[in-house]
Amino acid sequence: MAKSSRLPGFYKVTVAERRALVSDATGADARDIERALDGGGLDADTADKFVENVLGTYALPYGVALNVRVNGHDRVVPMVVEEPSVVAAASNAAKMVRAGGGFQVEVDPPLMISQIQLTDVADTHGARERLLAHKDEILAMADVAVPGLVASGGGARGMEVRVLGAESDRMMCVHVIVDCKDAMGANLVNTVAEAVADRLAEIARAKVGLRILSNLCDKRCVRVRVVVPASALATDDMDGDEVIDGIVNASRFAELDPYRAETHNKGIMNGIDAVVIASGNDWRAVEAGAHAFAARTGQYSPLATWRREGACLVGRLELPLALGTVGGTLRVHPAARLSLRMLGITDASDLAAVAASVGLASNLAAVRALATDGIQRGHMGLHARAVAVAAGATGKLVQRVASLIVEARDITVEGAKKALEVLASEEADGASAVED
Ligand code: MEV
Repeated sequence: MAKSSRLPGFYKVTVAERRALVSDATGADARDIERALDGGGLDADTADKFVENVLGTYALPYGVALNVRVNGHDRVVPMVVEEPSVVAAASNAAKMVRAGGGFQVEVDPPLMISQIQLTDVADTHGARERLLAHKDEILAMADVAVPGLVASGGGARGMEVRVLGAESDRMMCVHVIVDCKDAMGANLVNTVAEAVADRLAEIARAKVGLRILSNLCDKRCVRVRVVVPASALATDDMDGDEVIDGIVNASRFAELDPYRAETHNKGIMNGIDAVVIASGNDWRAVEAGAHAFAARTGQYSPLATWRREGACLVGRLELPLALGTVGGTLRVHPAARLSLRMLGITDASDLAAVAASVGLASNLAAVRALATDGIQRGHMGLHARAVAVAAGATGKLVQRVASLIVEARDITVEGAKKALEVLASEEADGASAVED
């Protein structure tokens, strides 16, 4: 946890100064930050142990979302993402949410689903009865396969038997439900599937098919709720009440139209994926689970919705989120370990609560921008900063050059070079005036 996640003026200072501020706010050692992040945190030799045929590594920007308060605790949240404006937008929206008390989050226990497909089943009804009668035996077999997990308090918790398709498909699927504690759980759950499959097939008088986890881990959901006062949502041109109406309208659009729901959800995943990557977790699994969950009723729907309640805007987000704070990439990636230290994460559900909160913040930022100025204005401001840097601006000059090229409607490297020259000659004039 952070002393405070409010660090005003953070974006204006240098990278080295930001590292010092974050170290002070979170207690993460300044040298650890340097060691873990310089050069992307991963050398080619370490990368060679991750995957095959390695040539090198591919770095992405590592930023932090500010102003985030989750269940009463401040968090400085690491985000790894290449898209400009995602980190700033999440931080701005988190500030609005903070005005209403922050993110209120509930996290389900870390239950994952191990799927065992059974094929060539002669009598699915009879097989189902027999399988359920052997539930205790199967759960005990599952526990034997993952002794480390059982020793840490996890293990098999339940079993479901599903008949798939028509009787002529002769296909069933058994779910073994496993409490994975602080692990994401893929390896554990795959081990369980392989350990119990033969016995299940014997009981069902069937053949073993696939044995693998399901990323639609809908027993491991996170629910976030925020209440944002109208005053925190106002823009230069619109009062807070009008903005609430605009955001509720944006929500209804996504609820009624899958083409919009998908983009609405992409905005949520901008925030979630960035935290998932920064913490060394499997973002493809998270993405697959989120979109399958969004389509669970048969109509692809928004994962987050917004409503007016009196003078406030109330937002709700629900999605499955399988994140780990032990094992996998975390064992070997120094930047992923740093992220958890910086966050002051105590367990996997804590991490899921933070990631989902940043997802809802990202969504709020996007729908507020869309319902007010449009998305391009904010994007342009940030794009202008990147262009200013490309033209050679550093430190405080970055923002000054960005403002000038936005004002001149000339957001090009050439335009930024001209702005730099203007600022340099103004400075020279100022200096000679002092000398005179
Ligand atoms: C862009 O990365 C994300 C948005 O398209 C999300 C949205 O439309 O809600 C701005």
